[in-house]
Amino acid sequence: MGRCHEISYKYLCFNAFLMIRYSAPGKIILFGEHAVVYGEPAIAIAIDKRFRCEISKSGQNRTTINGLIFDPEKQNYLNCAMEKLGIDEELEIHTSSELISGAGMGSSAAVTVASIACLRGLTDDIDKKNIAKMAFEVEYEVQGNASPIDTSTSTQGGGIILSPTKNSGFLWSIKKGETTWNIHKSDIPKLNLVLGNTGVHSPTGKLVAKIKEFYKRSFFARDIVNQVGLIVQRGHEALKNEDLVEVGRLMDQNQHLLSCLGVSHPKLDALIDAAREHSYGAKLSGVGGGGVMIALTDEPEETSKAIEEAGGQAYILPSTNKGLKLE
Ligand code: PMV
Repeated sequence: MGRCHEISYKYLCFNAFLMIRYSAPGKIILFGEHAVVYGEPAIAIAIDKRFRCEISKSGQNRTTINGLIFDPEKQNYLNCAMEKLGIDEELEIHTSSELISGAGMGSSAAVTVASIACLRGLTDDIDKKNIAKMAFEVEYEVQGNASPIDTSTSTQGGGIILSPTKNSGFLWSIKKGETTWNIHKSDIPKLNLVLGNTGVHSPTGKLVAKIKEFYKRSFFARDIVNQVGLIVQRGHEALKNEDLVEVGRLMDQNQHLLSCLGVSHPKLDALIDAAREHSYGAKLSGVGGGGVMIALTDEPEETSKAIEEAGGQAYILPSTNKGLKLE
């Protein structure tokens, strides 16, 4: 009996006629990146830029991705998802993405979430809680450390807040070692956000590992992480009150703390400074070390222009309530 057979009580076997297609969105983190890895709260919002994945059984005796031979080293998130699900069939995988990878837009989470849904052969009844949990395990394994913020936001869509306690809007909990994250829906008001891409590639795992060492060794780093947690709580209140001036001020403070932690970058600083002239506030979003920044503004056109003049690529960002979706 093949392995696929053994696990078929859980996952459908791919058959030649079954082609499954899912998409999942990227995200931006409004408050709390890095600190959330250590159990502090964080707030993210799904963005209307998606990763799409289509998987069927291969007609050849090898797995291909977009017509090329599947390389487990290059496709490490997909490969880890396949291993975790015990998939040993040859597959034909097609992907397309509107997200920039290695930039802090949650591309790896969207890849992981959409491909797990395809690999599980789900055609109805998406069990978001289990997909979010499994996607987190994949990110954790590939990166060596992670929080569930990206994977839960990509799975659920909309505004998401992670906190150590359970509050209203509770969706599910995810636990790793000593840390429990409670994931909640958060009704974030409509925000005008502009994203600026530095163009500096910054893979998540490397920087998260560096901060892990810093956190272990240094009281200073642990203190910054605690301070970020307090800012997130205040940011959540300000968002609920639709007090954009306060939200912007707290974004600036969050950025200052991220700089102290060593995850900003001269190009990020340049784009953030340029954007602030037309914004309530601005900060890096995601892992930092390059990647992207976001600005909260009433003047998205002017903010975009300032970001472009400072050498970045600017995007006016619509958010989305659509999380993981069968296409
Ligand atoms: O850069 P991204 O989109 O992978 O976001 C990483 C967010 C971190 O807080 C730095 C890591 C995590 O897993 O929470």
